[in-house]
Amino acid sequence: METIISKDIQKAVSLLTNNELVAIPTETVYGLAGNIFSEKAIKKIFSTKQRPFFNPLIVHISSIEKLESIASYVPEKAKILASAFWPGSLTLVLKKNNAVPDLITAGKDTVAVRIPNHPITLQLLNLLPFPLAAPSANPFGSISPTKPTHVAHYFKNNIQQVLDGGSCKNGIESTIIGFEDETPVVYRLGALSIEKIEAVIGKVSVKNNKENKPDAPGMLARHYAPKTTTLLVNDVRAEIQKHSSKKIGVLTFKDSLNDDTITEIVLSKNGFFEEAAAKLYAAMHQLDAKNLDIIIAERFPENDLGKSINDRLQRATFK
Ligand code: TXA
Ligand code: MG
Repeated sequence: METIISKDIQKAVSLLTNNELVAIPTETVYGLAGNIFSEKAIKKIFSTKQRPFFNPLIVHISSIEKLESIASYVPEKAKILASAFWPGSLTLVLKKNNAVPDLITAGKDTVAVRIPNHPITLQLLNLLPFPLAAPSANPFGSISPTKPTHVAHYFKNNIQQVLDGGSCKNGIESTIIGFEDETPVVYRLGALSIEKIEAVIGKVSVKNNKENKPDAPGMLARHYAPKTTTLLVNDVRAEIQKHSSKKIGVLTFKDSLNDDTITEIVLSKNGFFEEAAAKLYAAMHQLDAKNLDIIIAERFPENDLGKSINDRLQRATFK
């Protein structure tokens, strides 16, 4: 089978310049990218993902200087965050500049923007005269891709290139921060922990909503979901007892069940949150492909990236 996965950066430049889409690597997850100024490309992003138009896109830029062309106003704390964490897994929601098309922002007067921390995508952005809009490169509601093969599996008939940047090293989406007046508010937990953010700007409030009208419209209760029924529990062994006649897959943080009859993925044997986050979606993709009756996932400790991982697991298991 001819593969759409390639490292050819000039091909990506040419496709994007011609209003086509390219899946791009970032340190969080792969994005489905298009020229923010091309109506054709942006519409294609929504149709390819089957994403509703009320859900705005994140704009990716390559340097802080370019922020002026995207945002009309940058609060003091946003400047501090940008200089502390960009390039990196932090998205800022700011008052938008008029030049940013309404299609990108779903008609909102704010725009989400970040500098991704991946050398290939930074190089690509530097070769292009326009920023890239890029939502995660998965169909609406399904598990985000952290490897080129995940994207190819989803979209091999819809896009011409997945720019190969290897596995995403952080593995879950960026943390999103907006501003209500000058006060920072976390709209989506993500790959940058609240602890790290608070070390720089002090206490922040978290509005990581789970209802159907969240501040970040993409934060619907059910999201990031495998096709296999998935449960999130504190006690994996006890849960297994309840499903003894079923084909079970288990996803744990650090402990193995030592049971050969059960398909199991341990995310980090040494108990590192970063490693667990990096492997989370690949493990979900892997278990989902095994034709199991049920996936039982272990709840993480509620601190550091454990919080962000629990958020994703909760959305993956929400009915
Ligand atoms: O790590 C990431 O952020 C990845 C990589 C590719 O950069 N992108 C990503 O995009 O996760 P997406 O579209 O899957 O999630 C973007 C989230 C959505 O929940 C969307 O509603 C929210 O950002 N968002 C975008 N613009 C917004 C705005 N103006 N106000 C509030 N939320 C916004
Ligand atoms: Mg997404």
